[in-house]
Amino acid sequence: MMRKRTFIVGNWKMHKTGAEAETFMDALLDEMPAPPCTVYIASPLTALARVAEIAEGSGVSIGAQNVSAFDEGAYTGEVSARMVKETSSLFALIGHSERRRLFAEDDHTVRKKLIRALVADLRPLLCVGETEEERTEHRTEEVLERQLMTALDGVSDADFRKVIIAYEPVWAIGSGRSASPETAQQTHAFCRSVLKKRFGNPAIDTPLLYGGSVNPETVRDLIVQPDIDGALVGGASLDVDAFIAIIHNATSQT
Ligand code: PGA
Repeated sequence: MMRKRTFIVGNWKMHKTGAEAETFMDALLDEMPAPPCTVYIASPLTALARVAEIAEGSGVSIGAQNVSAFDEGAYTGEVSARMVKETSSLFALIGHSERRRLFAEDDHTVRKKLIRALVADLRPLLCVGETEEERTEHRTEEVLERQLMTALDGVSDADFRKVIIAYEPVWAIGSGRSASPETAQQTHAFCRSVLKKRFGNPAIDTPLLYGGSVNPETVRDLIVQPDIDGALVGGASLDVDAFIAIIHNATSQT
């Protein structure tokens, strides 16, 4: 069995101009020239190239928050996975709940995007999660299984090894109400069992990240759970001191 690795991924969402991103990265790398765990930043597209240049050789990897479901063509405003790859990006978020909810991305669109990312040689960071209503109705497992199985339909065993999963309960995102470590662990274990059923033992090594109101305090008890391999951090990744504290607190627990 591969040793557990810790991933801390910042998702800046629609925040930070190129200049603001540069200031953040300079401060992060001043403080942590060699980060003690795997650190990814999902940057706005307009700052990607600049952030990638600063991060080069530092151990911090850069990625996009979305890619188009199409390869190329008359799709005004869209940006393809191949274009993202050209910015030295390593990964792309796929199927974030804000994309699903606000931009009407269904499971089939999410699958197309995941395939585009793989074809362009980007690591897909697939986001799944239930709404509050679905949890109350005891449909969490059904929803997660559907989201995972549809998005990963047709993915080869070799490509599956590049996939990272983030479990982000929709009710926990930006709400200050993180899932408890026990609830998150239970749900992660379920996601891993779904992945194992489909892909077998390689699923033991799939990084499963938790996202939803992670902060420097909550990360401590989350990261020690056996099936939680890291965190996808939104709000608290905007402030460099908070982000550094998350990295520090996560790595001093493992
Ligand atoms: P949050 O966002 O940390 O602000 O809850 C997480 C996310 O949406 O990825």
